Amino acid sequence: MRRRLALALIATLPFAFAGVALSQTPQPAAPADAAPAGGAAAAPYVMTMGDMMNTLIQPRHTKLGLAGKAENWDLAAYAAAEIGQAFAGIAKAQPKFSGMPVGTLVDVAINPPMKAVDAAITQQDAKLFAAAYDQLTQGCNACHIELNHPYVVIRTPDVSAFPNQDFDAKR
Ligand code: HEC
Repeated sequence: MRRRLALALIATLPFAFAGVALSQTPQPAAPADAAPAGGAAAAPYVMTMGDMMNTLIQPRHTKLGLAGKAENWDLAAYAAAEIGQAFAGIAKAQPKFSGMPVGTLVDVAINPPMKAVDAAITQQDAKLFAAAYDQLTQGCNACHIELNHPYVVIRTPDVSAFPNQDFDAKR
């Protein structure tokens, strides 16, 4: 039985190699390039909520915290605006999660503390910033609890995760 299987596999090998050789032949037509081998249409990758959180929100939240801690108010203002934009984009890209309205949750959990963060930045007040940033972080966690991800716990970053960005440089 085993030998038969091995033989059958060996028998298919030349064809497999022929297939590789064929697929390596340059294809001149653009549509053929766009489709993966086998003829299936290439599907664009759609970001999940977790992907967007991981790539758009988490780093910006970190950067905002680090900029505020360094009292780098221009950079903090920039990071805050970036977070706001990212949340607005997420609410459009994913209007509902588990049947809950994402935009409304952002309005309730994120926008009020973001206003407090903005005010602290405008006033260049480190203490106010720390308090407002903490509220923002609690807003992140409130939404995680609401949307059944209570184990995703966000906190104020203590060290930078970005070795190539200077959060102290003020220009
Ligand atoms: C509108 C509700 C909502 C708000 C507000 C929110 N999150 Fe999330 N977050 C989610 C949901 C839902 C998930 C799980 C998504 C999934 O698994 O697809 C998640 C997951 C995450 C994850 C885990 C992603 C991973 O792949 O590891 C991180 C990190 C995260 N959020 C960071 C934040 C931060 C930081 C904030 C605040 C600035 C925030 N989130 C605010 C809903 C929210």
